[in-house]
Amino acid sequence: MKIGIIGAGNIGTGLAKHLIPNGHAVMLSFSLDMDKLRASAAGLGASAGTVAEAVQFADVVALATPWAVTADALSQAGGVQGKKIVWDCTNALKPDLTGLAIGTSTSGAEEIAKLAPWAIVVKAIPPFAQMLHSPSMLIGEHRADVFICGDDANARVTVARLIDEIGAQPVDAGPLVLARYAEPAAMLLVQLAYQQGFGTRIGLSLLHEPTQRA
Ligand SMILES: NC(=O)c1ccc[n+]([C@@H]2O[C@H](COP(=O)([O-])OP(=O)(O)OC[C@H]3O[C@@H](n4cnc5c(N)ncnc54)[C@H](OP(=O)(O)O)[C@@H]3O)[C@@H](O)[C@H]2O)c1
Repeated sequence: MKIGIIGAGNIGTGLAKHLIPNGHAVMLSFSLDMDKLRASAAGLGASAGTVAEAVQFADVVALATPWAVTADALSQAGGVQGKKIVWDCTNALKPDLTGLAIGTSTSGAEEIAKLAPWAIVVKAIPPFAQMLHSPSMLIGEHRADVFICGDDANARVTVARLIDEIGAQPVDAGPLVLARYAEPAAMLLVQLAYQQGFGTRIGLSLLHEPTQRA
């Protein structure tokens, strides 16, 4: 597939590192420094472009921007023809990381869906960037579970495949509204990693009886 990534920071480049060896073509976008963007894209075997170019290029758009600039990034997509899957990797964090800027009565994912009517939004917050850039995605012997929330079942399947390809374990959670609860769980991980001394090689794991799933 063609993956257009908005946000070429720790997560954007970490996703590219995994997706390119899995046969995907990747275009990175969104930086205050286009020379830096072009250099990091070239180093990864990706192309670089504007947000509008990355969205135009993409079968799937991965959104990996700091929350505070996410609306600005989406506004740079321009007039998008038709619908595109947007894999929302963002955490709606306050700029100082002390908490969520929004939550539980809405979600970052639902707000993104309002900002980008062309987007078929699927929330799936990847493991920490430090893991994506490390030699292994395993924590002990386990992959981190990633909850997949979106209203389009086919889009959830597509993003679940990408989550698998980056080395995490997709859990199909169902509708986008459940991002209201998946996002605070990611915030908990941020607190545990950075404030409570667990470090960034942590993740969620859902225990359930497989036969209980309808
Ligand atoms: N880091 C993690 O472990 C992690 C894990 C799960 C989810 N997330 C979420 O993923 C998202 C991205 O996180 P990250 O750690 O990858 O962030 P990051 O390393 O700070 O990268 C942010 C990217 O956005 C660009 N950017 C920021 N402000 C901009 C502006 N005003 N105009 C143009 N480009 C701008 C930066 O470009 P420049 O080249 O100009 O700096 C950079 O490419 C966040 O929502 C975060 O909460 C992060």
